[in-house]
Amino acid sequence: MQNNDSLSDKIISYRRVILVISLPLLLVSFVLFLVSSPNDVVLSTSRKLYVVQTESSSSDKYAVIFDAGSSGSRVHVFCFDQNLELVHIGNELELFEQLKPGLSAYAANPKEAANSLLPLLEKAEKVVPQDMRKNTPVKVGATAGLRQLGGDTSERILQAVKDLLKAKSSLETNDDWVTVLDGTQEGAYQWVTINYLLKNLGKNYSSTVGVVDLGGGSVQMAYAISETDAAKAPKTTKGEDLYVKEMFLKGTKYYLYVHSYLNYGLLAARAEILGIAKDAHSPCILAGYNGVYTYGGIDYQVSAPSSGSSMNKCRKEVLKALKVNNTTCTHSKCTFGGVWNGGGGDGQKRLYVASFFFDRAAEVGFINGSKPVAKARPQDFQVAAQRACRTTLEDAKSKYPDVDPANLPYLCMDLVYQYTLLVDGFDLKPRKHITLVKQVEYQNSLVEAAWPLGSAIEAVSAAI
Ligand SMILES: *[C@@H]1O[C@H](CO)[C@@H](O)[C@H](O)[C@H]1NC(C)=O
Ligand SMILES: *[C@@H]1O[C@H](CO)[C@@H](O)[C@H](O)[C@H]1NC(C)=O
Ligand SMILES: *[C@@H]1O[C@H](CO)[C@@H](O)[C@H](O)[C@H]1NC(C)=O
Ligand SMILES: *[C@@H]1O[C@H](CO)[C@@H](O)[C@H](O)[C@H]1NC(C)=O
Repeated sequence: MQNNDSLSDKIISYRRVILVISLPLLLVSFVLFLVSSPNDVVLSTSRKLYVVQTESSSSDKYAVIFDAGSSGSRVHVFCFDQNLELVHIGNELELFEQLKPGLSAYAANPKEAANSLLPLLEKAEKVVPQDMRKNTPVKVGATAGLRQLGGDTSERILQAVKDLLKAKSSLETNDDWVTVLDGTQEGAYQWVTINYLLKNLGKNYSSTVGVVDLGGGSVQMAYAISETDAAKAPKTTKGEDLYVKEMFLKGTKYYLYVHSYLNYGLLAARAEILGIAKDAHSPCILAGYNGVYTYGGIDYQVSAPSSGSSMNKCRKEVLKALKVNNTTCTHSKCTFGGVWNGGGGDGQKRLYVASFFFDRAAEVGFINGSKPVAKARPQDFQVAAQRACRTTLEDAKSKYPDVDPANLPYLCMDLVYQYTLLVDGFDLKPRKHITLVKQVEYQNSLVEAAWPLGSAIEAVSAAI
């Protein structure tokens, strides 16, 4: 006992001696190190020290993205590690919450619109560790619904959202992060999302896939091009979006060609096509229908000719609406409407085609809509159109049980438009293999092939 005690006493005092000697030594060597090393080495060393001293998760980075759509508001919280890999939040790859209605339902009361986001904000903040909140960006992207409100209504709602975030949020806010997303930004972010999920980011542009997104109001084409082709991009006139966005992702610089064709989304195109017909009869409308189509506040009288719908006649109307051969192209090569086509190339070889392309294909049954992706060819839309255009509205109800009854009268038109857009608009070969996509599998989870993840990746890329 006595011996043991004195031994441990000795050890303790010995430790003190070591500490007394080593502490100044450590300090001296650290000062020497500071003096002798260039600044950047010191910086990276001190960051490493910091990482070692705290929990490993402190290098993770969160991002909170609000998607304020026309039918509802949604919030996504993503967490990335230092390699920009998604980190699970609980059992999921992201926190996702939504509520109805969307911001545009509160057009008369901007403050109430902003407040409608509070329950989502609270849920989002809860999953971000307290000490990381002030470094976690919160972004709000408003899409179609708010875009259409017009006047200063959407501006006033956005301002109310900015005020709300500043007053009520513990997250990192920035007025520039609360915006109405235009189609170009949506297309660019969606390209980032899909290529991220396919693990293409960081690779040469020629290994990335191109993305076509057919929304209600607009259609987007996005694909990466070479630096040489990017230099050939035509200058756009003031106010128009640039054709090429430069992005730095996972250590690689990308030149992203992206164009949004406003008024060529599926629902807008219906109005465009109906507007061309000399009277209310359109060869694109299923026999037996008589009604009104409303888009952008304008009513179109709609009915089928007595002979019913016809794919060939409908295609002529659709070609007129697309103005494929009736606009001057001032660039080396155009898609339609006088728009530069980006030059094509390896970044466009493999195409992922989303939104209404996927939905209609699944509804008429040439792909299995229960699966997140499906292989198809543009000609599949033509074959489906042939069948739909030969059908009367009455027969269509039983033939197409998965199509929303409100869309049935326009089934021939939608499918003809989709085929024509791909083949005549974007100049794809009818037999080209394309991938219809709704979600992409990532770490055994399915992730939506939509813009919010891409927006989050951009937000944290600058910081990592
Ligand atoms: C990227 O791909 C292009 C086209 O395939 C090729 O010409 C180029 O050499 C590649 N660049 C690198 C860095 O591999
Ligand atoms: C457009 O014009 C080209 C060349 O004149 C022709 O080959 C093509 O078939 C036309 N396309 C349409 C849709 O009319
Ligand atoms: C081309 O467009 C103009 C103006 O939009 C129209 O007047 C003309 O009829 C069109 N021509 C053809 C061949 O469609
Ligand atoms: C569609 O895919 C789902 C999920 O893989 C499968 O269970 C179902 O049988 C498929 N349906 C058809 C009609 O092939």
